[in-house]
Amino acid sequence: MALMPKPTGVPRQLVAQISGAEVGRTKFPIYDSAPLGFPEYWYPVMWSRDLSPRQGIGLTLLGRDIAFFRDGGRAYAMENRCPHRGVQLHPAACDFPGTRTCSYHGWVFDLKTGALKAALTDGPDSPVVGKGNVSVRTYPVEERRGLVWIYLGDETPPPVETDIPDEFLMSDAILTGRITTRAGDWRHGCENGYDEGHVKYLHRRGAWTFWRRAPAWGWSEPRMSEDGKWLTRDLADIGFGAEYPGLGHWPPKHWWRWRRGARGIRFRLPGNLRVQYANWAHYEWYVPTKQGYHRYLQFICKRATGLGALWHRIKYYLYIRPFFHRQFNDQDAWMVENMTTPPEILYRPDRAMQSLRQYVDDHARGIKRDAPPPERFVRKKAQNEVIS
Ligand code: FES
Ligand SMILES: [Fe+2]
Repeated sequence: MALMPKPTGVPRQLVAQISGAEVGRTKFPIYDSAPLGFPEYWYPVMWSRDLSPRQGIGLTLLGRDIAFFRDGGRAYAMENRCPHRGVQLHPAACDFPGTRTCSYHGWVFDLKTGALKAALTDGPDSPVVGKGNVSVRTYPVEERRGLVWIYLGDETPPPVETDIPDEFLMSDAILTGRITTRAGDWRHGCENGYDEGHVKYLHRRGAWTFWRRAPAWGWSEPRMSEDGKWLTRDLADIGFGAEYPGLGHWPPKHWWRWRRGARGIRFRLPGNLRVQYANWAHYEWYVPTKQGYHRYLQFICKRATGLGALWHRIKYYLYIRPFFHRQFNDQDAWMVENMTTPPEILYRPDRAMQSLRQYVDDHARGIKRDAPPPERFVRKKAQNEVIS
């Protein structure tokens, strides 16, 4: 096999529609209208330890510029734009507890409400304060399991636990992980994560899969998990090797490949994948930033205490992180940034991807389903069927 290119950080696709045999027609109009994701969810964005009281952090999330701050031990988020002259607020200083002061002319904003409390360089009786009703938008932020979570929607947010996997909240759960920004549409990230066929080919090479015996081919049927929270799939057919007509046998037999790989894969909104391994689970989130890019958060969730927890951390930094979270998942990164669809022609393993698109269309929170579909799309059943 040829060497695979490294990710370049430049996306090839910057249009809204992802699925379909033809531009302008889709079976999944809600999915295909969401290049910046679904705001009515809690999203994890960074490690709590990275948000210091001394320095704010500016991030683009779901197409919005957001400034994060820590003050009095709590995390806050607000629109990252000063309403005076439009500069970014995340470098703002803390001159008074519970506020941040814009670096340019010293307008002071309340971290909780976003209200303008003072315009320092206009004096204590500045008419722009109070009378002007000037403020910046603030966003709900919570911290759980060492991570900062944000809600960017307009509705009243549900409890943050609604959007956190149950396993994360167990008292003996430990999280290790890697957070990066990748080029590529967040939905291509989801589809690649849940993609049935690529594991059997793309990931055959590399240190992480060196010992693993991967099937040659297979496909599955979709179903919802018992708790109703995850889209998952049941194996319908599988083969570890076969004679391909006119070509020969594939894959070559290697005596050293004996270990089992992943033992189950699940997906849920707003873009969260779970992969079960023998005694820990891998999770990843694809959080849209600006169109064509997403924040890629990978975590290993392991239930352990004491020496078991310490051993797991050592194993993570020496083995899982370099070979799985970096090398193995960088194989996906190049594919995700490099894809352009539509058009596409689908085969049996793509039933998994089609079920993901349908699940998002049916369940995405905050969508008015009785409203007519977006004008630019015509819902057409005959489009984009799997060839079987
Ligand atoms: S631009 Fe922020 S105070 Fe002037
Ligand atoms: Fe992959």
